[in-house]
Amino acid sequence: MSTTGEPSIEAAERLQGRTVEDSAAKQLPVPNVPDLSAFDMNGNLHMTSESMEKLHQASVETQSIMQKYRAAMREMQVRLEILDQDLNLKKHRNPIHHIESRLKTPASIYEKIGRYGYEATLENMERYILDIAGIRVICPYIQDVYSLFELLNRQDDLEIVKVKDYIASPKPNGYRSLHVIARIPVFFMDKKESIPVEIQLRTLAMDFWASLEHKLQYKKNIPESQSKFLKDELYDCAQQSAA
Ligand code: GTP
Ligand code: MG
Repeated sequence: MSTTGEPSIEAAERLQGRTVEDSAAKQLPVPNVPDLSAFDMNGNLHMTSESMEKLHQASVETQSIMQKYRAAMREMQVRLEILDQDLNLKKHRNPIHHIESRLKTPASIYEKIGRYGYEATLENMERYILDIAGIRVICPYIQDVYSLFELLNRQDDLEIVKVKDYIASPKPNGYRSLHVIARIPVFFMDKKESIPVEIQLRTLAMDFWASLEHKLQYKKNIPESQSKFLKDELYDCAQQSAA
């Protein structure tokens, strides 16, 4: 096995002669770092060695955390793929059409912590933002969505933290999907950690609908009358694709 992994936060901190506790980098590296006082009248950026050091430290901590979530996301994807293969071999079924995955961007994490009303610290990020690692599983049929969920639920080292069944209870706009937050154990050089991953399970039809609706959310120049018409059409479309 390779021993060339990234150093842990603690190891990186020790190398730099400080502890995690006294680290100023516990604040998320927010978009307004460094502050405006670091710019001169010509708009040139002047960074002190202290602010450079803080920025570096924040970057090391953030990278280390994101690496952790990326690992959890990969582990979860492999579990799902193994279930798909096993069902194929033993039951000649392929419950997964395809899988997509994404890590939330620091800007989006920062926005969400603010929306939840918490201070933007790394502790709060890990405690309250449970969808930093996200996997979307697209299935041919609704039955596949629930079978996969049931099989995940049976895995004794996975902790199902939260389930939102927007298939049984769609959102008012028609959105449907099964959202699951599950903690998966990940082994690192020096520790094991259970890391949350958000899994969205939906059918191809639900996914097609959600992509269309998502695109329309970003179309700002639609007149009010047409926007109402489109919303109604989308709602009808969601109902029909559910039938
Ligand atoms: P956010 O992640 O900030 O949205 O809050 P949340 O995690 O409490 O919300 P929720 O579980 O309802 O949904 C999270 C994710 O589901 C979103 O990021 C989208 O990917 C998807 N989603 C939820 N509602 C909608 C919707 O109405 N339309 C579309 N296209 N996607 C949705
Ligand atoms: Mg979310």
